[in-house]
Amino acid sequence: MIALELLYQGKAKSAYVTEDHDLLVLRFRDDTSAFDGEIIEKLSEKGAINNQFNALIMNKLAENGIPTHFVERLSATDMLVKRLDMIPVECVVRNKAAGSIVRRLGIEKGMAFDQPLFELFFKNDNLHDPMVSEHHVEAFGWATRHEISRMYELTLEANTILRDMFDQAGLDLVDFKLEFGRFYGEIVLGDEFSPDNCRLWDKVTGESKDKDRFRQNLGGVLEAYRDVAGRLGIVFDN
Ligand code: TMP
Repeated sequence: MIALELLYQGKAKSAYVTEDHDLLVLRFRDDTSAFDGEIIEKLSEKGAINNQFNALIMNKLAENGIPTHFVERLSATDMLVKRLDMIPVECVVRNKAAGSIVRRLGIEKGMAFDQPLFELFFKNDNLHDPMVSEHHVEAFGWATRHEISRMYELTLEANTILRDMFDQAGLDLVDFKLEFGRFYGEIVLGDEFSPDNCRLWDKVTGESKDKDRFRQNLGGVLEAYRDVAGRLGIVFDN
């Protein structure tokens, strides 16, 4: 399948229409953004790393019964996906406290939650992705109650699967963000899962192996992404 015309340009990926109305080509770019696009830098080969990373995760989730948009990887930076009608909501699950919840609630970084904590954010850079409740999501017509409970269920299932997978790779899955859309009436996982949108801490050293290295200017961003990929058995083909 060939990428034809640009449909949408996000901060890190571009989506292209194909000759099949139901399929898009997603191109993972090297652009890396933080603070709602305030800082954007190109990190050479990040696109290829995340493309391959995301393919592995989407396959893993699909094998475990989670419907995803992933069809196949087309090249180093491109993948073929189902064209979803995206829901403008970010589904975040947290196993330990880090990032915005530490700032919002004044709790200690690293505090483990008894149960995974689920939060919703309205996807809007100008408003800095404000946290919303399921009532906002329903009231503003972004998703129905049924769709919200399906997103909740799938996000928690993904957490169980991925937490275990990363644990075996010596990594603590602290939190992550998923986005869903509709495909012929079904709620399907879209967007991506990569170190750009999760927090992974080395279980021995506690070191961040994710985009926090970029957000906090710690350096070694791609080395960390490659380390995580290597631990999951990814061999880069480019
Ligand atoms: P937060 O602590 O900043 O709320 O982020 C929680 C998780 O969601 C973290 O793994 C990073 C991810 N995330 C994104 O992928 N995109 C976003 O726009 C935001 C705000 C967070």
